[in-house]
This record gives sequence, structure tokens and C-alpha cells, in this order.
Amino acid sequence: MDNARPQAPAGKPVSASAVELATLVEVADTNPMGNIHGGVIMKLADQAAAAAAIRHSGRICVTASIDQLDFRSAVHVGDMVVLKASLHYAHRSSMEVGVRIEAERLQTGVRTHVASATLIFVALDDQCRPVPVPAILPQTPEEQRRFARGEERYRARAARRQQEKAAGTAARS
Ligand SMILES: CC(C)(COP(=O)(O)OP(=O)(O)OC[C@H]1O[C@@H](n2cnc3c(N)ncnc32)[C@H](O)[C@@H]1OP(=O)(O)O)[C@@H](O)C(=O)NCCC(=O)NCCS
Repeated sequence: MDNARPQAPAGKPVSASAVELATLVEVADTNPMGNIHGGVIMKLADQAAAAAAIRHSGRICVTASIDQLDFRSAVHVGDMVVLKASLHYAHRSSMEVGVRIEAERLQTGVRTHVASATLIFVALDDQCRPVPVPAILPQTPEEQRRFARGEERYRARAARRQQEKAAGTAARS
């Protein structure tokens, strides 16, 4: 038996690690027009997604990539930003996390979908090496759809990195 390679832990449902994070938009978060800076949304999305990845894996996780971040509408000072993060897909040590970002105008209770993001995290062991994470057990049809799309994107990313590696090796030889 190879004791150096930890076994993948038992699978977990998406709901076990889903995260909701809410915060009020302050003046320091906004531009002179009172709209939130995109970088503030990016930081919050990274935090919410990291929390979901850490919950799922039970490990320290690093952001490997931000694959997608689409802004749909502005967020204003005084609004409450609500981020909902959940795992789409997990492979060996990596996890794809989707984040839906909404803004609530507190005076009216009206919520708007302001952005969506997809981020990839890698779980690390105590020596900062990638370590196996639990499988995802998608339960609802939506979770199953996200899982299948996440698996396709994982394969596309792996193929792209492989190509880049081969191109780098060829350029150096
Ligand atoms: C992410 C990181 C741990 C990967 O390390 P590595 O030595 O390249 O690891 P491997 O090639 O063995 O890949 C490990 C996993 O990471 C995934 N991965 C590596 N680079 C990736 C990237 N750019 N995008 C998405 N996934 C990536 C691989 O697909 C693999 O997933 P799998 O185990 O599920 O198959 C390493 O590149 C790193 O530490 N990067 C810096 C992270 C960081 O500082 N983030 C910002 C602050 S948190």
C-alpha cells in the first residue's frame, strides 16, 4: 500500500458546503458615482467561493483561476450585496465553484442579479501539495447539469494547460 498518497474522502452533497455571504456597500467601496468597484465584487466572490471550497474539502484552498466573471448591472452605496457560492464540480484536488451575486435595495427589498462568477480552487495538504478532495454528489437536476458542464470545462482547461506546457517546452528546446 502507498501510504504517501492519501485516499479520496467520501463524497458530499453540494448543499453541505453551500455558502451565503452578505455585506453592505460602503462609500469606500464605490467610485464617485456611488457605484461599487468591480474589484470589490471580485474580492467578495473569491471569499465566498473559497469558503465553499474549504467547507467541501476540509482543507486550506488556493484560488487556481478565475474562469469567468460577468457583470450585469451596477451596485450602489447602501445596497446589500448577497453572494451565493456552491460547488459545481470536483476532480482530484481541484473544485469548480459558481457564485451568484445579487444586490438588495434595502428600502424596497428588491433584489437584482448583478454578476456571476466561476472560480477554481485547489485543496492543499500541510506541505502545500495538492490533496484529494471528496467527490461531489449532485442531487437535483440543476446540480447534475452544473456538474456535467463543470466536468467539460475541467477537461478543456486541462487540455489547454497541456498545450501551453508543450508549446513552452518546444520554445525552450
Ligand atoms: C494551483 C496550484 C496549487 C497547482 O499546483 P500544481 O503543482 O500545478 O499542481 P498540479 O499540476 O498537480 O495540479 C493540481 C490540480 O490543480 C489544477 N490546476 C492547476 N493549475 C490550474 C489552473 N491554472 N486552473 C485551474 N486548475 C488548475 C489541476 O487541474 C489539478 O486538478 P486535479 O487534481 O483535480 O486534477 C499552484 O499552481 C499554485 O499554488 N498556484 C498559486 C495559487 C495562489 O497563490 N493563488 C492566489 C492566492 S490564494
